[in-house]
Amino acid sequence: MGISPRKGMITITDVLRFGLIGSGSQGRYLSEALAMTRRAQLVACADINADTARLAQMQCGYERAYNDYQEMLSVAPLDAVIVATTHDQLHPCAMAAAKAGKHVFVEKPMALNAADGMELVNAARDSGVKLMVGYTLRFMPDRILMKKMLDEGAIGDLAHIGGGQLIGNMGGWLGERARGGGPLLYIGSHIIDHVLWLAGSGAQRVYAEVDWKEDSDVEAGVQMTLRFPGGVTGQVCTSQKLGGRYGWVDAMGTAGRMRAEWERHDLMIQSSRIEQYSNLTTIRLEPQAYLPPVPPDAQARVSGSAYIRMWMAEFWQFIDAIETNTEPPVTGADGVRTLQVIDAVFESAKTGAAVDIEPY
Ligand SMILES: NC(=O)c1ccc[n+]([C@@H]2O[C@H](COP(=O)([O-])OP(=O)(O)OC[C@H]3O[C@@H](n4cnc5c(N)ncnc54)[C@H](O)[C@@H]3O)[C@@H](O)[C@H]2O)c1
Repeated sequence: MGISPRKGMITITDVLRFGLIGSGSQGRYLSEALAMTRRAQLVACADINADTARLAQMQCGYERAYNDYQEMLSVAPLDAVIVATTHDQLHPCAMAAAKAGKHVFVEKPMALNAADGMELVNAARDSGVKLMVGYTLRFMPDRILMKKMLDEGAIGDLAHIGGGQLIGNMGGWLGERARGGGPLLYIGSHIIDHVLWLAGSGAQRVYAEVDWKEDSDVEAGVQMTLRFPGGVTGQVCTSQKLGGRYGWVDAMGTAGRMRAEWERHDLMIQSSRIEQYSNLTTIRLEPQAYLPPVPPDAQARVSGSAYIRMWMAEFWQFIDAIETNTEPPVTGADGVRTLQVIDAVFESAKTGAAVDIEPY
C-alpha cells in the first residue's frame, strides 16, 4: 500500500507492484528511488547471489527475495520489473520479464548489441508492456534545460554536438568484454544517448578510433565522429584512462552555443538571439530543478546518493507512462539507436572505415 501524492489518498490500487532482477548496488539505489515516489509496492527482488537478494530485501523493504528470477516472475504478483544486472544479463532477464507480461525498466545499455535490443523492443510490443531504458543523464536539471532551450531555438539551428563521459580504471565484471564491460557500454552509452536525444534523431554514420587496454580485452578509450540527418555533426569521447569521473556536452548552433558539465548544476550559454545571453552567461540551477518533489518523510535508507532525485524522476515518468498508456521518456527504440552507434564503433575500429547506420 502507498500514498499517491498526485491523488492525495491512500489506496491499494493506486500503486504498481514492482520486482527487481539484479539486486546489486544500482538495483538497490533504484529501489530506494522507486520507494520514494510513493507510487509503487516493492514486492520481490532477485539476484543469483542469495545474500545480495536478501540484502536488497532488508535494505529496500521488498516483501520477498529469490535467487532465481524465473521463479520470481512465475510466482510473485508483479506488474512491473526493474532489471539492473551485469550488462550480459540485461537482455535475457528483460526478455523474460516482457514475455511474462511485466512492464520493464531496464538499466542501460539494455543489451550488448542492437539486434538484441530490437528483439527486446519487439517482445515488449508483442506483450503490450512498456519498456524504458535507464539513461539517467537526461534527468540532470542542466541537461533538461539544455534540451528545452535547444528545441526552443535559443542557439538557432543545431550544427554540432560534442560530449564525453570519463571514468577511472574499471575492474571486476566491468573489465570483462564477455560480460559487457568497458567504458563504451557502461558510460559511453549514456553520452551517446544524450547526444542522440539532443540531436533529435539516430546517427546516420559513425567513424571511431579505439584504444584497447593492455591487461584486459575491453577498450581503454574511444573517440567517435557522428553524422546526423540535415548535416548535423557530433563527436563523442569515452575513456577509462584519463583519470576520475567527468562529463560534458556542448551544443553549437547557427546563433550561439551551450555547455553543461558533470555535476555542476549550471548551463553556460551565449546566444545572438537572446539579448540577456549575448555575452557568455552561466545559468545557475538548483540541483532539484525540474525534478519531482521528494516526500518530506522520505529517508534515504540505502545511500543518500545525489542521483536519487534523478532516478526518482525516471520512475515517476515510467509509472506515468504505464498509468496513462503513453510512451516512457526513454523508449526501447532510443536504447536500440544508441546500441546501433556502439555496434558501428566496434565495426569501424575493426575495419578502419566509417560505418553507415540503417534508420530505426
Ligand atoms: N543509470 C545509472 O545511473 C547507473 C549507474 C550505475 C550502474 N548502472 C547500471 O546498472 C546495472 C547494474 O550495475 P551495478 O553497478 O549495480 O552492478 P553490480 O555488479 O553491483 O550488480 C549487478 C547484480 O546483478 C546480479 N546478476 C547478474 N546476473 C544475474 C541474473 N541472471 N539474475 C539475477 N541477478 C543477476 C549480480 O549478482 C549483481 O548482484 C548495469 O546495467 C549498469 O550499467 C546505471
